[in-house]
Amino acid sequence: MEEEINPRQSHNINDLFNQRKYLKVCAPMVRYSKLQFRTLVRQYGCDLCFTPMILADSFCKSSHARQNEFTTNADDGPLIVQFAANTVHEFVGAAYMVAPFCDGIDLNCGCPQRWAKQMGLGCAMLDDPEVISNIIKECRNTIPKQFSVSVKMRILNDDKKTVDLCRQFEHAGASFLSVHARTASQSTGDINRNVLKLIQESVRCPIVANGGLTSLNECDELALETGCKGVMVANSLLTNPMLFTGASKPTLNCVQKWINICYNSTVPMSSYSEVTEPKISSRPLNLNFHCFHHHLVFMLEKILPKYKRRVFNKLKEFDDVLAFLEAELLLKPQLYDVDTFRNSYNLTLDYKDTISVYTRLRDRNACNEAFVDESNEYNSEATDGSYFNKKLEQVNEDDVEEVYDWDSLYK
Ligand SMILES: Cc1cc2nc3c(=O)[nH]c(=O)nc-3n(C[C@H](O)[C@H](O)[C@H](O)COP(=O)(O)O)c2cc1C
Repeated sequence: MEEEINPRQSHNINDLFNQRKYLKVCAPMVRYSKLQFRTLVRQYGCDLCFTPMILADSFCKSSHARQNEFTTNADDGPLIVQFAANTVHEFVGAAYMVAPFCDGIDLNCGCPQRWAKQMGLGCAMLDDPEVISNIIKECRNTIPKQFSVSVKMRILNDDKKTVDLCRQFEHAGASFLSVHARTASQSTGDINRNVLKLIQESVRCPIVANGGLTSLNECDELALETGCKGVMVANSLLTNPMLFTGASKPTLNCVQKWINICYNSTVPMSSYSEVTEPKISSRPLNLNFHCFHHHLVFMLEKILPKYKRRVFNKLKEFDDVLAFLEAELLLKPQLYDVDTFRNSYNLTLDYKDTISVYTRLRDRNACNEAFVDESNEYNSEATDGSYFNKKLEQVNEDDVEEVYDWDSLYK
């Protein structure tokens, strides 16, 4: 097959909000809201996807980070790329580079992790709203209007101060705001529904409500109760990528789609016509084992009985995972038809003409850092991660085995 890849279609995020009663949004998730997962949830009622948070400074300085942290294809839209940054030149520089390949850019002001706070990133940004406003303004001035600029934030202890912050960001030019309605010190528990309503009543831009949603019913209720123009889900989409369709758990067809998406992302275009037996090679193109396996671990949480999950969760090789899926669930990867394959093929992202905005803004801001093609190398795949390890602990706890309804799987 010839190396002919379809161009990406752009989407207007403002129009999108106007077209739907409320938008159903896949949250930014480090390690997890990557191209393959975005492709899956879009097939199940998700209107808008966020990439995982990317560190803007690494992205601007390191070609390796650019290659690893962001991949996309012609069908990967509507798409918002999220960056963590605390300087105008890094955020706007990174935004300008990815602008041709997405529909909007988001500033992470919600991450409560210690390392982020120590670097003055994530929720620490909310201590200095002026910087956030400057970042939004400069982004608006640098990138054409249709492109959306948004902020994902947590709430403060004081509702009025939270509303004031949102007003300030809207005034600076934010297209919409995603609000995780818990404070930085609350990791679980009830969200503050009142403040979501108050914010949406106090600003004109759309508010995307986030936190603790586990079903489509809950999304409907929250949107109705608060008037918010979008709802965003993280945790519950991992275990149930079909959540936005109203399904209470993923079907085997959903797992099949996941295997197909992952498998097809490993086939070079030049080999397409030679494929005989679909199989994932041990060092595949555009897919790492963590991404493939962790999502299956999450999805199979509601599909496989615990004693089988204990075996599955410990697998470490593509071959073993594929053998397990075939033996236990009769699932095997399938090659896409030519059109689907072309649209799903990774775009080659060329940043050489757009990196100059970063260097110009950096020099204007009189930053003295040396411009080197390396930095703060951030590798979200270096370990399994604490989120995944917690899941493993849950499944390894000794308790009574559940009774399983196998018939319902095939519905
Ligand atoms: C595994 C994982 C990774 C996350 N990564 C990010 C991220 O990259 N950027 C961000 O703004 N929030 C991140 N979050 C927070 C979620 O986007 C969301 O705000 C939070 O989980 C609450 O939503 P939920 O109750 O639906 O899970 C992450 C959450 C999880 C579970």
